[in-house]
Amino acid sequence: MKIFLDSANIDEIKTLCNTGFVDGVTTNPSLIAKSGREILSTITEICGLVDGPVSAEVTATDFKTMLIEGKKLAAIAPNVTVKVPLTHDGLMTCRALSDAGTNVNVTLCFTAGQALLAAKAGAKFISPFVGRLDDIGQDGMGLVEEICRIYTNFDFDTEVLVASIRSTTHVVDAALMGADVVTLPPKILTALYNHPLTDSGLDAFLKDWQDTGQSIL
Ligand code: E4P
Repeated sequence: MKIFLDSANIDEIKTLCNTGFVDGVTTNPSLIAKSGREILSTITEICGLVDGPVSAEVTATDFKTMLIEGKKLAAIAPNVTVKVPLTHDGLMTCRALSDAGTNVNVTLCFTAGQALLAAKAGAKFISPFVGRLDDIGQDGMGLVEEICRIYTNFDFDTEVLVASIRSTTHVVDAALMGADVVTLPPKILTALYNHPLTDSGLDAFLKDWQDTGQSIL
């Protein structure tokens, strides 16, 4: 399973992409706004930091303008994935960009029916928002399970990119279900490797080691 970082913060991306276990980055208009930076230069910089796919989202809502924006974003770097919302015009834009050889991430997916249409429209990625479904009392990971089954049934190439992740449990569940990608806010990525027993175990090992007076170097 691939791990993407869900951030438009250059410092966070630099720090976490150096670890070697980050395969790509996703951004959205809210994350760009939070960064306080201009979108084109930010996406350009992120693409220079990460080899894998970098999702950059259009902000128009009509097909014609979405397509122009999508082409402009795609021209930034070969690893840009254009992100479009799961609307009628978004799906049309997905089809047009995909036919032209551009990878598209269809975002704001909340039903399996929507995911089916995104695959039919040639999406490279579908982004079900699990946390936002959980927030309204629905079953976010249940949606991921349905999408994975549908895509397997029909051999769709579209990758399931689990988004709006709120916990490490979401990540493990996504892996158990065979989702292709998770995109993680930095705090969930760091929570994946942090554990109090790892910390206390290391403290004990280091104390015992110090008592031996030895050095490996
Ligand atoms: C990723 O592509 C999404 O934009 C992101 O995961 C949304 O997460 P949120 O629901 O926490 O805003």
